Amino acid sequence: MCGIFAYMNYRVPRTRKEIFETLIKGLQRLEYRGYDSAGVAIDGNNNEDKERHIKLVKKRGKVKALDEELYKQDGMDLKVEFETHFGIAHTRWATHGVPNAVNSHPQRSDKTNEFVVIHNGIITNYKDLRKFLETKGYEFESETDTETIAKLIKYVYDNRESEDIRFSTLVERVIQQLEGAFALVFKSIHYPGEAVTTRRGSPLLIGVRSKYKLSTEQIPILYRTCNIENVKNICKTRMKRLDSSTCLHAVGDKAVEFFFASDASAIIEHTNRVIFLEDDDIAAVADGKLSIHRVKRSASDDPSRAIQTLQMELQQIMKGNFSAFMQKEIFEQPESVFNTMRGRVNFETNTVLLGGLKDHLKEIRRCRRLIIIGCGTSYHAAVATRQVLEELTELPVMVELASDFLDRNTPVFRDDVCFFISQSGETADTIMALRYCKDRRALTVGITNTVGSSISRETDCGVHINAGPEIGVASTKAYTSQFISLVMFGLMMSEDRISLQSRRQEIINGLRCLPEMIKEVLSLDEKIHDLALELYKQRSLLVMGRGYNYATCLEGALKIKEITYMHSEGILAGELKHGPLALIDKHMPVIMVIMKDPCFTKCQNALQQVTARQGRPIILCSKDDTESSKYAYKTIELPHTVDCLQGVLSVIPLQLLSFHLAVLRGYDVDFPRNLAKSVTVE
Ligand code: F6R
Repeated sequence: MCGIFAYMNYRVPRTRKEIFETLIKGLQRLEYRGYDSAGVAIDGNNNEDKERHIKLVKKRGKVKALDEELYKQDGMDLKVEFETHFGIAHTRWATHGVPNAVNSHPQRSDKTNEFVVIHNGIITNYKDLRKFLETKGYEFESETDTETIAKLIKYVYDNRESEDIRFSTLVERVIQQLEGAFALVFKSIHYPGEAVTTRRGSPLLIGVRSKYKLSTEQIPILYRTCNIENVKNICKTRMKRLDSSTCLHAVGDKAVEFFFASDASAIIEHTNRVIFLEDDDIAAVADGKLSIHRVKRSASDDPSRAIQTLQMELQQIMKGNFSAFMQKEIFEQPESVFNTMRGRVNFETNTVLLGGLKDHLKEIRRCRRLIIIGCGTSYHAAVATRQVLEELTELPVMVELASDFLDRNTPVFRDDVCFFISQSGETADTIMALRYCKDRRALTVGITNTVGSSISRETDCGVHINAGPEIGVASTKAYTSQFISLVMFGLMMSEDRISLQSRRQEIINGLRCLPEMIKEVLSLDEKIHDLALELYKQRSLLVMGRGYNYATCLEGALKIKEITYMHSEGILAGELKHGPLALIDKHMPVIMVIMKDPCFTKCQNALQQVTARQGRPIILCSKDDTESSKYAYKTIELPHTVDCLQGVLSVIPLQLLSFHLAVLRGYDVDFPRNLAKSVTVE
């Protein structure tokens, strides 16, 4: 979704040009999250009065367009040096209002830019707030929910009870009125050199860089009591006061730089020392000191926020020699899959240990059923492993799309174990489903790729898939690592089952060989490129299979539709006769996934039905399959592995095919239209 980046240099002199460059670089790292427009707010329109004026520059299009626009501004001497400066920046993916400069962020309180704000998320009660503010004479210029926040903080400021009210207190009052999800960063001409940021339901972290040793590694939370009975109902009651605490525990001083971002990838090149904010934390920087406040304390609250060290390398998030992040990520799979297993699968003893689950294993073994919940590709990883999980855990396994699971008010019980699969760990639908299951006291398990993400923090226990940062909007390496994480879970659950030992051994042997086999599949790239050359002008592409490879078809079709904009459908071969067969003729391209597994004979039947209707199937099959190739228009031959792991290999040709099709059709692979990497709205 949208991306937030902000930068404060405190007593670290930086020229205006350096500040621009830092802000733009930060946005570029976030561009994959949303990209229909971008904007910044910086100090000073002119050099004399640089602290008391906020300049907004916003532009429709990519960050590059904003970058060019910045340098066209009048009166912006690039050499001017700021000892202390706070700049905020945003990339937008439109949710309210069309993508244009007015609707892009920062949004402002008024024409003189007294308060400006950047926002990630959605404010659900913005219409009520807007109506209220309009009755107070505030004029709106955009169609966004975010503008309401900018106006609201000005309203709170204009109606303050004392002159020396703190910036953080204003924000504290504002968020009491907000419903929905948000990560926010505020800047104001009334508080030069100060920053306030907060979050609820959307991620936000703060990087700290200083030559000096930081005064603390833990930031104690300041709790404030709230004496408002009905703070939410601004339209009916005038806002009342909050009781503010006065002491400050803080990190920072002397010379320090702070980086605020919705994603670690924007911060890592500056510092690996970060603080992850929790919902309703309000972090404020004043006089170079960062303090964190909360309005109310609940029993489960952690009373401090640690400064953590990120283990991410910048090089991990760069494209390297590849033309797109997606391509790089497809080719990284031999290593990412290996990293998922590293230190967890012991090939000597045939055991698997997932450290994040070991304390809950007994409880999981006693459960009534497993429910695996996710969206898109993450959901497909659940579909792909359902059968082997049923076999290894001997438990009923439900797989659920988070949105549908919630729509149905699915019954969940305290002896259920609910898994939440999410690459980003921030998908709103999945988080809502997680909270739904927590409310029903089920044990919750997160399977994520993002350390410190909401899902990894809010679940009772979990597994980090260790695939490394995934930047391409189309998920690839996360899928194979999620797949393997779930298989590892099944293996861990079945360790004591005598009857399953030879099956476990077979799967563990299969896991050992996977990275090499993935390399072999990747070596088919050229052949797949040639296939793409034949197919790229088609309007539609069917992908058909069953059993362990049904998920491969769903996932392959999703990849094709999301980046090539061709119509594509993953079809369960068992359903062919019940409708989809009507689509088959000599013109309709159809890919069939036929592997040497228990469904082989049934897939042969489907193949016969397709060829009998003059269909010309392109078959993904095992290397030793002489049967299927007789009927194929073309074959892609894959190395053969254990049936339940075959899907890790069979999905890769479809990832590659979608990539080549998108390039040939002239589309931007990493930035498919209308999509964003992290879907933080429902
Ligand atoms: C497709 C894709 C999406 C995501 C879905 C869930 O390539 O990336 O379908 O899988 O939006 O995202 P996460 O896994 O971050 O919860």
